[in-house]
Amino acid sequence: MPDHAEYWEARYQEAQTGWDLNGPTPALQAAAEAFPKDARILIPGCGLGWDGEALHRRGYTEVYLSDWAPSAKTQFLERVPDFSPDRFITGDFFSWAADEAVHGQFDCILECTFYCAIPPVMRVNYARAMERLLRPGGQLLGLLFTFPLTEQGPPFGGSVEEYQARFSAPFQLDQLGPNPLSIASRAEKEVFFCATLQPS
Ligand SMILES: C[S@@+](CC[C@H](N)C(=O)[O-])C[C@H]1O[C@@H](n2cnc3c(N)ncnc32)[C@H](O)[C@@H]1O
Repeated sequence: MPDHAEYWEARYQEAQTGWDLNGPTPALQAAAEAFPKDARILIPGCGLGWDGEALHRRGYTEVYLSDWAPSAKTQFLERVPDFSPDRFITGDFFSWAADEAVHGQFDCILECTFYCAIPPVMRVNYARAMERLLRPGGQLLGLLFTFPLTEQGPPFGGSVEEYQARFSAPFQLDQLGPNPLSIASRAEKEVFFCATLQPS
């Protein structure tokens, strides 16, 4: 089941990783341009960490990655040996995000096929975790699928209406719509969003 580390670890060990782009996500890399090179950027459920690697190589100095699968971290560090291992957090993202020590610590959180990977009942926890991790004025942004949500998954679908409700107050949803940088195979079934955490 996708709510266990073993499920995801097995996917990496068996190379059943159909979501993996084998490179960075163009829309996320373009969105990162808006942030200074010392912005604290988190990528939860980063998988093999292609976007983190690209940001690191572009000179972003405060990139943090999180994934449940130890194999994902191992493969990432083999490719990017100069990335600090401490900044790739393994274990359950939601448990890590509950620690007050990391609350308010991030300027930017990048979403790419993590929201669709968690059980839909966890989506309320997802929004709450992002609210806690971002500093006021920080931004959650990335790509979300728009194919219908059913009991089948992962990936689990969603809708524009769901995202408008999910990322309402305390967020302000600044963008939600198609992105010209979506990869061709996903362009018709994903939207780009940017949600800013409003000061309380
Ligand atoms: C569909 S994959 C996407 C990986 C990556 N974002 C990409 O686009 O290639 C979902 C990832 O989320 C991770 N994941 C799922 N639930 C998690 C959790 N509770 N804590 C940390 N990582 C989790 C899985 O290990 C998996 O690597």
